[in-house]
Amino acid sequence: MMKIRNTRDGWGAGAQLLHWLIAAGIATAMLLGWIMVNLPNSATKFELYALHKSLGITILALVLLRMAWRWINVVPDMPGTLSPREQKLAGAGHMALYALMLLMPLSGYVLNSAANFPLNVFGLVQIPNLTPESETLADVASVMHLAFFWVLAAVLVAHIGAALRHHFVLHDDVLRRMLPVRRR
Ligand code: HEM
Repeated sequence: MMKIRNTRDGWGAGAQLLHWLIAAGIATAMLLGWIMVNLPNSATKFELYALHKSLGITILALVLLRMAWRWINVVPDMPGTLSPREQKLAGAGHMALYALMLLMPLSGYVLNSAANFPLNVFGLVQIPNLTPESETLADVASVMHLAFFWVLAAVLVAHIGAALRHHFVLHDDVLRRMLPVRRR
């Protein structure tokens, strides 16, 4: 049976659930963001913005939970077949992903706050604004939000490419241990 917590040689159900929930959430938020900014003004555009922001704040909460969970669990060892240089590169890539998972929603939150827009998550929870109203800050945060999107997209391509390389080229357990399947 799969354990809730991580072990030295694998991710538990908690870490896997958070990984895949956040992955699906970020993919959806990226797609929604891309579509909504390119839509002409309409009720639909407005609704997509509201949905994007609600999803983004939910992702931010899940990412904070994920980081806390990682903190209070052991982190599984990387396969010993990787060279020290490869292990360092993988570690740096993962740290970049954590930073971007925070910066992406945070820059959106700052952008929304500086524009003095009310923020209501799925019509359920009212979220206070982080900053006073400022057109300059809103502009800066908007540029950052778009820049983080491109950096995140690039790091994700590398991340997914690395996972596929582990599975199909190196034939190790790295991809499989993030999936709820029995290990070889
Ligand atoms: C993981 C979370 C998020 C992702 C992946 C994401 C992604 C994106 C993307 C791809 C765009 C289109 C960028 C462009 O073409 O200018 C965008 C725009 C936008 N996002 Fe997010 N976003 C996230 C979270 C948030 C949050 C939490 C908020 C607000 C509370 C937010 C507010 C906005 C706004 C207002 C825009 C329009 C930007 C503009 O008009 O300059 N986003 N987002």
